[in-house]
Amino acid sequence: MDISVVQGDISTTEADVVIVNLFEGVTSPGGATGAVDRALDGAISKLIELGDIRGKAGERTTIHTFGKIPAPRVLVAGLGKADDFDVHAVRNLSAEVARACRKPAVNTVATVVHGAGIGGLDPDACAQAVAEGALLGAYQFLRYKTEADDDDDKAAIGKLTIVEHDASKVEGMAAAANRGRVMAEATNLARDLANEPANNLNPTDLAGRAAEVASAPNLELEVMEEEEMEAKGMGSLLSVARGSVQPAKLVRISYKGRGGEGYDLALVGKGITFDTGGISIKPAQGMEAMKADMTGAASVIAAMQAVAALAPKADILAIAPCTENMPGGNATRPGDVVSAMNGKTIEILNTDAEGRLVLADGLCYARELGARHLVDVATLTGAISVALGDQCYGLMTNNDALAKRFETAAEAAGERSWRLPMFKEYGDQLKSNVSVVKNIGGRPAGSITAAKFLEHFVDEKPWVHLDIAGVDMASKDKGWITKGASGQVVRALVNLAVGFADE
Ligand code: BES
Ligand code: ZN
Ligand code: ZN
Repeated sequence: MDISVVQGDISTTEADVVIVNLFEGVTSPGGATGAVDRALDGAISKLIELGDIRGKAGERTTIHTFGKIPAPRVLVAGLGKADDFDVHAVRNLSAEVARACRKPAVNTVATVVHGAGIGGLDPDACAQAVAEGALLGAYQFLRYKTEADDDDDKAAIGKLTIVEHDASKVEGMAAAANRGRVMAEATNLARDLANEPANNLNPTDLAGRAAEVASAPNLELEVMEEEEMEAKGMGSLLSVARGSVQPAKLVRISYKGRGGEGYDLALVGKGITFDTGGISIKPAQGMEAMKADMTGAASVIAAMQAVAALAPKADILAIAPCTENMPGGNATRPGDVVSAMNGKTIEILNTDAEGRLVLADGLCYARELGARHLVDVATLTGAISVALGDQCYGLMTNNDALAKRFETAAEAAGERSWRLPMFKEYGDQLKSNVSVVKNIGGRPAGSITAAKFLEHFVDEKPWVHLDIAGVDMASKDKGWITKGASGQVVRALVNLAVGFADE
């Protein structure tokens, strides 16, 4: 989708459809909607009078113009009550509209920036949200849809033009729309990676996709092989890889926008390209969802694409330990004891609690590389969806200040995280008879004990753990979230990373 911001009058703009809007309770439309209304001899006001257009949130009315204006159709989008309208509503509305325009007859769309007029919102923020929302909402994973089985579903918008009357605002809005594009493209990359079936996205494939991202001139890539993991003492990560014929890969992408020592922030993502559970094998029902057990890795790799494009004055690192979790003949057995990069011994009592094992070495490696703040992202526990459902993701931390920074970044992305307690007593559930720690803490507080396990490997560094297992996949389209891989957390990570430039 090609997105641009132009100065002009939407009522005379050529496009297959023109999008204007209306707040609930407004009886005589002003601004761009008013201009279109006048050009249509009062058709919009008349429909308001008839009660067919009420401006309710989610309401969309198509009016055919029959030559009165260059565009053959006008879509009037209801914005709901002005008090409830914010930039997140703009993003969601733009996404819904992009899907509504998925018709063979609609290729070019011209839109006003929702919310920037009488809504009183910042025009730049709204332009970003319109661009971001359109690209996020239009996303579909069509790679394996070879037959033209449902043309309507595939007919995405080709060109979106944001039309602004005030010439002095266009430059700022264009830059903002470009930021929205960068954010959405990174999110859509993470979605593509997570939606990809595991037979076409093994650890080597995922490292290859990371290499494509890292081909940006300001990024640097390392793909660590098993031999070097061995040499570095990453026995925890390697214990997961043993059961698969596919070699593990540890992906590092570095961005040095400040050029200082070490890194302001490391993003560490769980990259299990398929999680069978290993010897502690999962039930067959629903196991296919475990192709997305690398969403953490996908998110941190994709976030680096946006970081490189936005080029903040900050030093950011992404680490993705990638492996399959398979029950092969050489697989780790329950009861085995392994040792992580920091020398801590781990008794593996359930090979399905593998995410924490790969993150343990990922976190140690990030610290070795000089990361001053750590954020890990993982589809870590089924328990997080028992606790929180899909309304928000879990946040666990050892550092209030970093948690607050992340929460602000997530809020700006229109996402919700929720903090779970990290009382030290939860750590007692991980006491092993034979080693420093065991990899499961029993059913109670399953997401927290998983975080307590990770805490053994962060060594007092400010750290935030995000358990996204409840939100990484969506069953239906809703606002900017699309069916399948949801793309949650990517833009939050980018916002957080970019924020380190202000220090
Ligand atoms: N990848 C799973 C967690 C998961 C479950 C993600 C459902 C998405 C949807 C993880 O590796 C796992 O299997 N966790 C176990 C931990 C248990 C053995 C302590 C779980 O949650 O059951
Ligand atoms: Zn597992
Ligand atoms: Zn897993």
